[in-house]
Amino acid sequence: MASDRKVAPNDLSAFWMPFTANRQFKKAPRMFVAADGLYYTTADGRQVLDGTAGLWCCNAGHNRPKITEAVRAQVGQLDYAPAFQMGHPKAFELATALREMAPAPFEHVFFTNSGSEAVETALKIALAWHRARGEGSRTRLIGRERGYHGVNFGGISVGGIVNNRRFFGSLLTGVDHLPHTHLPEKNAFTRGQPEHGAELADALEDIVALHGAETIAAVIVEPMAGSTGVLLPPKGYLERLREITARHGILLIFDEVITGFGRLGSSFAAEHFNVMPDMITCAKGLTNGVIPMGAVLVTDAIHDAFMQGPEHMIELFHGYTYSGNPVASAAGLATLETYREEGLFENAAALAPCWEDALHALKGLPHVIDIRNMGLIGAIELEPIPGAPTKRAFQAFLDAYERDLLIRTTGDIIALSPPLMIDRPRIEELFGKLAEVLKNLD
Ligand SMILES: Cc1ncc(COP(=O)(O)O)c(C=O)c1O
Repeated sequence: MASDRKVAPNDLSAFWMPFTANRQFKKAPRMFVAADGLYYTTADGRQVLDGTAGLWCCNAGHNRPKITEAVRAQVGQLDYAPAFQMGHPKAFELATALREMAPAPFEHVFFTNSGSEAVETALKIALAWHRARGEGSRTRLIGRERGYHGVNFGGISVGGIVNNRRFFGSLLTGVDHLPHTHLPEKNAFTRGQPEHGAELADALEDIVALHGAETIAAVIVEPMAGSTGVLLPPKGYLERLREITARHGILLIFDEVITGFGRLGSSFAAEHFNVMPDMITCAKGLTNGVIPMGAVLVTDAIHDAFMQGPEHMIELFHGYTYSGNPVASAAGLATLETYREEGLFENAAALAPCWEDALHALKGLPHVIDIRNMGLIGAIELEPIPGAPTKRAFQAFLDAYERDLLIRTTGDIIALSPPLMIDRPRIEELFGKLAEVLKNLD
Protein backbone atom coordinates (compact mmCIF):
# COMPACT_ATOMS: atom_id res chain seq x y z
CA MET A 1 0.00 0.00 0.00
CA ALA A 2 1.15 3.50 -0.80
CA SER A 3 0.84 4.55 2.86
CA ASP A 4 3.44 1.95 3.86
CA ARG A 5 6.04 3.52 1.60
CA LYS A 6 9.02 5.16 3.21
CA VAL A 7 9.21 8.84 2.26
CA ALA A 8 12.78 9.62 1.34
CA PRO A 9 13.39 13.30 2.16
CA ASN A 10 15.53 13.90 -0.89
CA ASP A 11 13.43 12.08 -3.46
CA LEU A 12 12.65 14.62 -6.15
CA SER A 13 10.99 12.27 -8.61
CA ALA A 14 7.32 12.55 -7.59
CA PHE A 15 6.88 16.31 -7.98
CA TRP A 16 6.41 17.23 -11.66
CA MET A 17 7.47 20.85 -11.52
CA PRO A 18 5.57 23.56 -13.44
CA PHE A 19 7.27 25.53 -16.23
CA THR A 20 10.57 23.91 -15.25
CA ALA A 21 13.29 21.95 -17.00
CA ASN A 22 12.60 19.03 -14.64
CA ARG A 23 15.50 16.80 -15.64
CA GLN A 24 18.03 19.61 -15.44
CA PHE A 25 16.63 20.77 -12.08
CA LYS A 26 16.64 17.38 -10.49
CA LYS A 27 20.29 16.82 -11.41
CA ALA A 28 21.29 20.06 -9.68
CA PRO A 29 18.39 21.26 -7.49
CA ARG A 30 18.04 24.88 -6.48
CA MET A 31 16.14 24.90 -3.20
CA PHE A 32 14.96 27.80 -1.10
CA VAL A 33 14.24 26.98 2.53
CA ALA A 34 13.49 30.41 4.02
CA ALA A 35 12.95 34.02 3.06
CA ASP A 36 13.08 37.36 4.82
CA GLY A 37 12.84 40.86 3.45
CA LEU A 38 14.72 40.97 0.16
CA TYR A 39 16.59 37.68 0.54
CA TYR A 40 15.96 34.00 0.14
CA THR A 41 17.98 31.43 2.09
CA THR A 42 19.10 28.44 0.07
CA ALA A 43 19.34 24.87 1.35
CA ASP A 44 23.13 25.31 1.42
CA GLY A 45 22.81 28.41 3.60
CA ARG A 46 23.39 31.23 1.11
CA GLN A 47 21.47 34.51 1.06
CA VAL A 48 20.07 35.12 -2.44
CA LEU A 49 18.86 38.60 -3.38
CA ASP A 50 15.32 38.36 -4.76
CA GLY A 51 15.43 40.22 -8.06
CA THR A 52 12.00 38.98 -9.11
CA ALA A 53 9.73 39.31 -6.04
CA GLY A 54 9.32 35.54 -6.20
CA LEU A 55 7.34 35.31 -9.43
CA TRP A 56 6.37 38.99 -9.64
CA CYS A 57 4.21 38.53 -6.55
CA CYS A 58 6.00 39.31 -3.26
CA ASN A 59 5.76 43.06 -3.75
CA ALA A 60 6.08 43.80 -0.03
CA GLY A 61 9.10 41.49 0.34
CA HIS A 62 9.18 38.30 2.39
CA ASN A 63 8.08 37.31 5.86
CA ARG A 64 6.20 40.53 6.49
CA PRO A 65 4.94 40.42 10.10
CA LYS A 66 1.48 41.87 9.51
CA ILE A 67 0.66 39.41 6.74
CA THR A 68 2.09 36.40 8.55
CA GLU A 69 0.17 37.27 11.69
CA ALA A 70 -3.09 37.88 9.82
CA VAL A 71 -2.87 34.46 8.18
CA ARG A 72 -2.06 32.77 11.48
CA ALA A 73 -4.96 34.45 13.27
CA GLN A 74 -7.47 33.77 10.49
CA VAL A 75 -6.71 30.05 10.29
CA GLY A 76 -7.38 29.83 14.02
CA GLN A 77 -10.61 31.79 13.85
CA LEU A 78 -12.41 30.80 10.63
CA ASP A 79 -10.49 28.45 8.38
CA TYR A 80 -13.10 28.10 5.66
CA ALA A 81 -16.61 29.28 4.89
CA PRO A 82 -18.65 28.13 1.89
CA ALA A 83 -18.19 30.55 -0.96
CA PHE A 84 -21.66 30.05 -2.48
CA GLN A 85 -24.77 31.46 -0.81
CA MET A 86 -22.78 32.18 2.40
CA GLY A 87 -20.37 34.93 3.34
CA HIS A 88 -17.79 35.96 5.91
CA PRO A 89 -16.66 39.48 6.79
CA LYS A 90 -13.08 39.42 5.48
CA ALA A 91 -14.02 38.85 1.84
CA PHE A 92 -16.33 41.89 1.93
CA GLU A 93 -13.68 43.96 3.69
CA LEU A 94 -11.08 43.01 1.12
CA ALA A 95 -13.39 43.81 -1.78
CA THR A 96 -14.03 47.23 -0.25
CA ALA A 97 -10.31 47.82 0.34
CA LEU A 98 -9.60 46.88 -3.27
CA ARG A 99 -12.26 49.24 -4.49
CA GLU A 100 -10.66 52.02 -2.45
CA MET A 101 -7.24 51.27 -3.88
CA ALA A 102 -8.36 50.93 -7.50
CA PRO A 103 -9.13 53.81 -9.86
CA ALA A 104 -12.62 55.29 -9.60
CA PRO A 105 -14.74 53.30 -12.05
CA PHE A 106 -14.00 49.92 -10.46
CA GLU A 107 -16.74 49.36 -7.93
CA HIS A 108 -17.10 45.58 -7.68
CA VAL A 109 -14.78 42.62 -7.17
CA PHE A 110 -15.11 38.95 -8.14
CA PHE A 111 -12.59 36.74 -6.33
CA THR A 112 -10.67 33.84 -7.89
CA ASN A 113 -7.61 31.84 -6.79
CA SER A 114 -5.06 32.80 -9.41
CA GLY A 115 -4.36 35.07 -12.31
CA SER A 116 -5.36 32.36 -14.76
CA GLU A 117 -8.77 32.05 -13.12
CA ALA A 118 -9.17 35.82 -13.03
CA VAL A 119 -8.68 35.83 -16.80
CA GLU A 120 -11.20 33.03 -17.39
CA THR A 121 -13.64 34.88 -15.15
CA ALA A 122 -13.22 38.20 -16.97
CA LEU A 123 -13.70 36.56 -20.37
CA LYS A 124 -16.83 34.79 -19.18
CA ILE A 125 -18.23 37.96 -17.61
CA ALA A 126 -17.62 39.78 -20.92
CA LEU A 127 -19.58 37.17 -22.88
CA ALA A 128 -22.40 36.97 -20.34
CA TRP A 129 -22.61 40.78 -20.05
CA HIS A 130 -23.25 41.22 -23.76
CA ARG A 131 -25.82 38.47 -23.64
CA ALA A 132 -27.54 39.98 -20.61
CA ARG A 133 -27.91 43.19 -22.61
CA GLY A 134 -29.35 41.49 -25.65
CA GLU A 135 -26.13 41.40 -27.66
CA GLY A 136 -25.53 37.67 -27.55
CA SER A 137 -23.93 37.74 -31.00
CA ARG A 138 -20.82 39.25 -29.44
CA THR A 139 -18.84 36.08 -28.81
CA ARG A 140 -15.43 36.76 -30.35
CA LEU A 141 -12.47 37.43 -28.07
CA ILE A 142 -9.38 39.35 -29.12
CA GLY A 143 -5.95 38.91 -27.55
CA ARG A 144 -2.50 39.90 -28.67
CA GLU A 145 0.59 38.18 -29.97
CA ARG A 146 3.06 37.47 -27.17
CA GLY A 147 0.34 38.06 -24.59
CA TYR A 148 0.31 35.96 -21.42
CA HIS A 149 -3.00 35.40 -19.70
CA GLY A 150 -2.27 32.33 -17.65
CA VAL A 151 -2.53 28.72 -18.65
CA ASN A 152 -6.20 27.78 -18.76
CA PHE A 153 -7.95 27.26 -22.07
CA GLY A 154 -9.44 30.74 -22.37
CA GLY A 155 -6.18 32.34 -21.34
CA ILE A 156 -4.02 30.38 -23.77
CA SER A 157 -6.54 30.98 -26.55
CA VAL A 158 -6.33 34.76 -26.23
CA GLY A 159 -2.66 34.52 -25.22
CA GLY A 160 0.05 34.68 -27.80
CA ILE A 161 3.05 32.85 -26.42
CA VAL A 162 3.65 30.12 -28.95
CA ASN A 163 4.90 27.33 -26.70
CA ASN A 164 2.03 27.86 -24.28
CA ARG A 165 -0.47 27.15 -27.09
CA ARG A 166 1.02 24.86 -29.68
CA PHE A 167 0.88 21.59 -27.70
CA PHE A 168 -2.72 21.91 -26.57
CA GLY A 169 -5.03 21.35 -29.47
CA SER A 170 -7.41 23.71 -31.18
CA LEU A 171 -8.25 25.91 -28.16
CA LEU A 172 -11.23 28.31 -28.19
CA THR A 173 -12.66 29.18 -31.56
CA GLY A 174 -13.52 32.73 -32.57
CA VAL A 175 -10.32 34.28 -31.26
CA ASP A 176 -8.14 36.82 -33.07
CA HIS A 177 -4.86 38.42 -32.09
CA LEU A 178 -3.57 41.95 -32.40
CA PRO A 179 0.07 42.33 -33.37
CA HIS A 180 2.53 42.63 -30.48
CA THR A 181 4.17 45.97 -29.85
CA HIS A 182 7.85 44.99 -29.87
CA LEU A 183 9.71 47.09 -32.47
CA PRO A 184 13.38 46.69 -31.57
CA GLU A 185 14.64 48.27 -34.78
CA LYS A 186 12.88 51.51 -33.81
CA ASN A 187 12.63 51.41 -30.04
CA ALA A 188 15.71 49.58 -28.69
CA PHE A 189 17.16 50.94 -25.43
CA THR A 190 14.14 53.16 -24.81
CA ARG A 191 13.69 54.39 -21.26
CA GLY A 192 10.02 54.03 -20.33
CA GLN A 193 7.34 54.05 -23.00
CA PRO A 194 8.65 53.79 -26.56
CA GLU A 195 7.92 56.47 -29.15
CA HIS A 196 6.93 54.21 -32.02
CA GLY A 197 4.02 51.82 -32.43
CA ALA A 198 0.77 53.51 -31.34
CA GLU A 199 -0.64 52.71 -34.79
CA LEU A 200 -0.39 48.97 -34.04
CA ALA A 201 -3.68 49.39 -32.15
CA ASP A 202 -5.37 50.14 -35.49
CA ALA A 203 -5.16 46.43 -36.32
CA LEU A 204 -8.30 46.18 -34.22
CA GLU A 205 -10.13 48.18 -36.90
CA ASP A 206 -9.14 45.51 -39.44
CA ILE A 207 -10.51 42.76 -37.21
CA VAL A 208 -13.73 44.75 -36.75
CA ALA A 209 -13.98 45.25 -40.52
CA LEU A 210 -13.47 41.53 -41.08
CA HIS A 211 -15.96 40.13 -38.58
CA GLY A 212 -18.24 43.06 -37.70
CA ALA A 213 -18.20 44.77 -34.31
CA GLU A 214 -21.47 43.04 -33.46
CA THR A 215 -19.58 39.74 -33.17
CA ILE A 216 -16.79 40.96 -30.87
CA ALA A 217 -17.15 40.76 -27.09
CA ALA A 218 -13.83 41.87 -25.67
CA VAL A 219 -10.19 42.73 -26.17
CA ILE A 220 -7.78 41.58 -23.48
CA VAL A 221 -4.22 42.89 -23.19
CA GLU A 222 -1.60 43.29 -20.54
CA PRO A 223 -1.10 47.06 -20.34
CA MET A 224 2.59 46.19 -20.08
CA ALA A 225 3.33 42.67 -21.27
CA GLY A 226 5.38 41.01 -18.54
CA SER A 227 5.88 37.29 -18.98
CA THR A 228 6.86 37.50 -22.63
CA GLY A 229 9.83 39.60 -21.58
CA VAL A 230 8.62 43.09 -20.66
CA LEU A 231 7.11 44.84 -23.69
CA LEU A 232 6.02 48.37 -22.93
CA PRO A 233 3.03 50.00 -24.59
CA PRO A 234 4.15 52.58 -27.16
CA LYS A 235 3.09 56.13 -26.35
CA GLY A 236 -0.57 56.57 -27.34
CA TYR A 237 -1.17 52.85 -27.97
CA LEU A 238 -3.42 52.10 -24.98
CA GLU A 239 -5.36 55.31 -25.53
CA ARG A 240 -6.00 54.27 -29.12
CA LEU A 241 -7.09 50.80 -28.10
CA ARG A 242 -9.49 52.33 -25.60
CA GLU A 243 -10.92 54.70 -28.18
CA ILE A 244 -11.48 51.99 -30.79
CA THR A 245 -13.01 49.48 -28.36
CA ALA A 246 -15.35 52.12 -26.90
CA ARG A 247 -16.44 53.27 -30.34
CA HIS A 248 -17.39 49.72 -31.33
CA GLY A 249 -19.02 48.69 -28.04
CA ILE A 250 -16.22 46.17 -27.33
CA LEU A 251 -15.15 45.62 -23.73
CA LEU A 252 -11.51 46.29 -22.88
CA ILE A 253 -9.89 44.08 -20.23
CA PHE A 254 -6.51 44.97 -18.74
CA ASP A 255 -4.75 41.92 -17.38
CA GLU A 256 -2.88 43.48 -14.46
CA VAL A 257 -1.71 40.30 -12.78
CA ILE A 258 1.83 41.69 -12.95
CA THR A 259 1.27 45.43 -13.20
CA GLY A 260 -1.20 45.59 -10.30
CA PHE A 261 -0.14 46.58 -6.78
CA GLY A 262 2.58 49.11 -7.27
CA ARG A 263 4.86 47.56 -9.84
CA LEU A 264 4.75 50.72 -11.96
CA GLY A 265 4.59 53.04 -8.94
CA SER A 266 0.79 53.30 -8.86
CA SER A 267 -1.92 50.95 -7.66
CA PHE A 268 -2.68 49.71 -11.17
CA ALA A 269 -1.31 50.38 -14.64
CA ALA A 270 -4.73 51.76 -15.61
CA GLU A 271 -4.04 54.59 -13.20
CA HIS A 272 -0.42 54.93 -14.27
CA PHE A 273 -1.30 55.29 -17.95
CA ASN A 274 -4.60 57.02 -17.18
CA VAL A 275 -6.48 54.68 -19.49
CA MET A 276 -9.53 53.02 -17.95
CA PRO A 277 -10.54 49.59 -19.21
CA ASP A 278 -13.89 47.98 -18.39
CA MET A 279 -12.38 45.22 -16.30
CA ILE A 280 -9.06 44.61 -14.54
CA THR A 281 -7.74 41.17 -13.66
CA CYS A 282 -5.24 40.89 -10.83
CA ALA A 283 -3.63 38.29 -8.54
CA LYS A 284 0.00 37.86 -7.35
CA GLY A 285 0.62 41.06 -5.34
CA LEU A 286 -2.95 40.95 -4.03
CA THR A 287 -1.79 38.69 -1.20
CA ASN A 288 1.96 39.25 -1.59
CA GLY A 289 2.09 35.69 -2.93
CA VAL A 290 1.49 34.28 0.55
CA ILE A 291 -1.88 32.63 -0.17
CA PRO A 292 -3.14 32.09 -3.73
CA MET A 293 -5.78 34.62 -4.75
CA GLY A 294 -6.92 36.54 -7.81
CA ALA A 295 -9.67 39.01 -8.56
CA VAL A 296 -11.58 40.71 -11.35
CA LEU A 297 -12.47 44.36 -10.84
CA VAL A 298 -15.49 45.57 -12.76
CA THR A 299 -17.41 48.80 -13.20
CA ASP A 300 -20.99 49.48 -12.12
CA ALA A 301 -22.03 49.22 -15.75
CA ILE A 302 -20.80 45.63 -15.94
CA HIS A 303 -22.02 44.53 -12.53
CA ASP A 304 -25.44 46.18 -12.64
CA ALA A 305 -26.40 44.57 -15.94
CA PHE A 306 -26.47 41.23 -14.11
CA MET A 307 -28.55 42.45 -11.16
CA GLN A 308 -31.94 41.86 -12.68
CA GLY A 309 -34.57 39.13 -12.75
CA PRO A 310 -36.05 37.39 -9.69
CA GLU A 311 -34.03 38.07 -6.54
CA HIS A 312 -33.83 34.44 -5.48
CA MET A 313 -31.98 33.61 -8.71
CA ILE A 314 -28.20 33.37 -9.00
CA GLU A 315 -27.11 36.20 -11.28
CA LEU A 316 -23.82 34.78 -12.57
CA PHE A 317 -23.33 31.02 -12.87
CA HIS A 318 -19.64 31.14 -12.08
CA GLY A 319 -17.39 30.88 -9.03
CA TYR A 320 -14.80 28.76 -7.25
CA THR A 321 -14.88 26.77 -3.99
CA TYR A 322 -12.17 29.11 -2.75
CA SER A 323 -13.48 32.42 -4.14
CA GLY A 324 -12.82 34.89 -1.31
CA ASN A 325 -11.38 32.19 0.96
CA PRO A 326 -11.12 33.57 4.53
CA VAL A 327 -7.39 32.97 4.92
CA ALA A 328 -6.61 34.44 1.50
CA SER A 329 -8.85 37.41 2.28
CA ALA A 330 -7.02 37.99 5.57
CA ALA A 331 -3.70 37.83 3.73
CA GLY A 332 -5.02 40.28 1.12
CA LEU A 333 -6.23 42.77 3.72
CA ALA A 334 -2.92 42.68 5.60
CA THR A 335 -1.03 43.01 2.32
CA LEU A 336 -2.93 46.09 1.21
CA GLU A 337 -2.40 47.59 4.67
CA THR A 338 1.31 46.89 4.45
CA TYR A 339 1.53 48.57 1.03
CA ARG A 340 -0.27 51.62 2.40
CA GLU A 341 1.47 51.89 5.77
CA GLU A 342 4.93 51.49 4.31
CA GLY A 343 4.28 53.65 1.26
CA LEU A 344 5.60 50.90 -0.98
CA PHE A 345 4.00 52.14 -4.21
CA GLU A 346 5.49 55.56 -3.51
CA ASN A 347 8.85 53.92 -2.83
CA ALA A 348 8.66 52.17 -6.19
CA ALA A 349 7.87 55.46 -7.93
CA ALA A 350 10.67 57.30 -6.11
CA LEU A 351 13.27 54.64 -6.90
CA ALA A 352 12.26 54.20 -10.56
CA PRO A 353 14.77 56.77 -11.93
CA CYS A 354 17.66 55.22 -9.97
CA TRP A 355 16.54 51.76 -11.11
CA GLU A 356 16.38 52.96 -14.71
CA ASP A 357 19.91 54.43 -14.60
CA ALA A 358 21.43 51.33 -13.01
CA LEU A 359 19.68 49.08 -15.53
CA HIS A 360 20.66 51.07 -18.61
CA ALA A 361 24.28 51.19 -17.39
CA LEU A 362 24.46 47.54 -18.55
CA LYS A 363 24.27 48.71 -22.18
CA GLY A 364 27.44 47.74 -24.01
CA LEU A 365 28.03 44.52 -22.04
CA PRO A 366 28.44 41.38 -24.18
CA HIS A 367 25.36 40.11 -26.05
CA VAL A 368 23.03 42.86 -24.72
CA ILE A 369 20.81 43.91 -27.66
CA ASP A 370 18.07 45.82 -25.83
CA ILE A 371 17.18 47.17 -22.40
CA ARG A 372 13.66 48.21 -21.37
CA ASN A 373 12.18 49.51 -18.14
CA MET A 374 9.27 51.06 -16.33
CA GLY A 375 8.57 51.47 -12.61
CA LEU A 376 10.46 48.71 -10.83
CA ILE A 377 10.54 46.46 -13.87
CA GLY A 378 13.50 45.92 -16.13
CA ALA A 379 14.39 43.68 -19.04
CA ILE A 380 17.67 42.90 -20.73
CA GLU A 381 17.40 41.19 -24.07
CA LEU A 382 20.35 39.03 -25.07
CA GLU A 383 21.40 37.99 -28.53
CA PRO A 384 20.47 34.29 -28.80
CA ILE A 385 23.17 31.69 -29.36
CA PRO A 386 22.72 30.68 -33.02
CA GLY A 387 20.75 27.42 -33.16
CA ALA A 388 20.20 27.37 -29.39
CA PRO A 389 17.55 29.93 -28.48
CA THR A 390 16.97 30.50 -24.72
CA LYS A 391 20.26 28.83 -23.78
CA ARG A 392 22.24 32.00 -23.18
CA ALA A 393 19.61 33.50 -20.87
CA PHE A 394 19.25 30.20 -19.00
CA GLN A 395 23.03 30.21 -18.47
CA ALA A 396 22.69 33.73 -17.09
CA PHE A 397 19.95 32.54 -14.72
CA LEU A 398 22.09 29.65 -13.44
CA ASP A 399 25.18 31.82 -13.06
CA ALA A 400 23.20 34.55 -11.26
CA TYR A 401 21.94 31.96 -8.80
CA GLU A 402 25.52 30.89 -8.11
CA ARG A 403 26.28 34.56 -7.46
CA ASP A 404 23.40 34.80 -4.97
CA LEU A 405 20.98 36.64 -7.21
CA LEU A 406 17.54 35.47 -8.35
CA ILE A 407 16.57 36.66 -11.83
CA ARG A 408 13.91 35.40 -14.22
CA THR A 409 14.39 34.56 -17.85
CA THR A 410 11.97 34.05 -20.68
CA GLY A 411 13.31 33.22 -24.11
CA ASP A 412 16.61 35.15 -24.24
CA ILE A 413 15.30 37.97 -22.09
CA ILE A 414 16.21 38.59 -18.46
CA ALA A 415 13.30 40.11 -16.52
CA LEU A 416 13.73 41.89 -13.20
CA SER A 417 11.02 42.93 -10.73
CA PRO A 418 12.32 43.18 -7.16
CA PRO A 419 10.13 43.63 -4.09
CA LEU A 420 8.99 47.25 -3.87
CA MET A 421 10.75 47.65 -0.50
CA ILE A 422 14.13 47.60 -2.26
CA ASP A 423 16.53 50.50 -1.63
CA ARG A 424 19.47 52.08 -3.45
CA PRO A 425 22.23 49.89 -1.93
CA ARG A 426 20.32 46.76 -2.89
CA ILE A 427 19.73 48.09 -6.40
CA GLU A 428 23.50 48.55 -6.66
CA GLU A 429 24.06 45.05 -5.31
CA LEU A 430 21.61 43.60 -7.84
CA PHE A 431 23.10 45.29 -10.88
CA GLY A 432 26.68 44.73 -9.66
CA LYS A 433 26.02 40.99 -9.56
CA LEU A 434 24.17 41.04 -12.85
CA ALA A 435 27.00 42.89 -14.58
CA GLU A 436 29.39 40.13 -13.48
CA VAL A 437 27.00 37.52 -14.86
CA LEU A 438 26.77 39.28 -18.23
CA LYS A 439 30.54 39.81 -18.49
CA ASN A 440 31.11 36.10 -18.03
CA LEU A 441 28.50 34.77 -20.46
CA ASP A 442 29.59 32.64 -23.42
C1 LIG B 1 -0.58 38.97 -17.09
C2 LIG B 1 -0.77 37.64 -16.43
N1 LIG B 1 -1.96 37.06 -16.48
C3 LIG B 1 -2.20 35.89 -15.89
C4 LIG B 1 -1.20 35.23 -15.22
C5 LIG B 1 -1.48 33.90 -14.61
O1 LIG B 1 -1.46 33.97 -13.22
P1 LIG B 1 -1.38 32.61 -12.36
O2 LIG B 1 -0.04 32.03 -12.61
O3 LIG B 1 -1.61 33.11 -10.96
O4 LIG B 1 -2.49 31.74 -12.82
C6 LIG B 1 0.08 35.80 -15.15
C7 LIG B 1 1.17 35.10 -14.45
O5 LIG B 1 2.32 35.45 -14.57
C8 LIG B 1 0.29 37.03 -15.78
O6 LIG B 1 1.50 37.60 -15.78
